[in-house]
Amino acid sequence: MTRPHIEFIQAQAVGWIKLNDESARPGAEAKPLSHDADSKAVTVILRYPAGWSLSQEHHVDSDEEFYVLSGALTINDMTYEEGDYAFLPAGFPRTTMATSDGADVMTFFEGAHKRVAGPAPDSLYSKDKLVERVQSKVVAWGGATDPKVASAGVKYLALRKDSDTGDTTWLLDIDETGMTGEVNRLETHPVVEEVFLLSGEFHMPMGVLTKGAYFWRPPGIPHGPVGTNIGALGLFRCKGGPLTTEWSEETHPVQWDAPYAPILPEAVANSLLSDYDAAQPY
Ligand SMILES: [Fe+2]
Repeated sequence: MTRPHIEFIQAQAVGWIKLNDESARPGAEAKPLSHDADSKAVTVILRYPAGWSLSQEHHVDSDEEFYVLSGALTINDMTYEEGDYAFLPAGFPRTTMATSDGADVMTFFEGAHKRVAGPAPDSLYSKDKLVERVQSKVVAWGGATDPKVASAGVKYLALRKDSDTGDTTWLLDIDETGMTGEVNRLETHPVVEEVFLLSGEFHMPMGVLTKGAYFWRPPGIPHGPVGTNIGALGLFRCKGGPLTTEWSEETHPVQWDAPYAPILPEAVANSLLSDYDAAQPY
């Protein structure tokens, strides 16, 4: 399972693709941010138009994880509103999906994500992994767990940890006091770190990440330092095991206004860079 290093793109610069009748979500639109050409896993913003519905007893053949960016989406009897999160394992039974006013949903599929009519075989559906809903705007948040980033200005909300792989998903909310240092250490993780910035800013050596920024960083790459003066709210995932961090001995100055100089696969770079300044709200 490999995906190219993408660090970083603004989702606003990525176009929408209308999904066809064979797809998992016919009639919705998709904005793919990264994908694995082998496994067909993808990180994608799905846009369900107002009045969209899918009435069919079915399941999806891969895990689906999502976070509602705006609007509301109902799956079976459960309604997901802005800030709500779910992990629906492969084979999760569905009878209806619908939205009245539309919804933009950050979505992670872990495989080919084919829509399959009827219930799944028992062997496919790992019910113990189901996270049916976490309402991030309602539940209590904790403090950050890494002592190097734990401070009064950093809050952490665990969304999921896979009992087999250690893969973890969480939200980090850094307020305007939480990461203002002029110097910091570099960090390295033994796992993929994937981030979508929901609000605020991160200042990094490859530029200033604003709302809608996305990166997928393979394991073992030293990165940072990171700073923010206005705070940041991010959706984080690590893939390939739980997140651990090795910090550099030496410190580096935070680059507060570095020009946009992303690390991108060539095909992405060619299609994105020319559009970057034309950022629109997603
Ligand atoms: Fe990191």
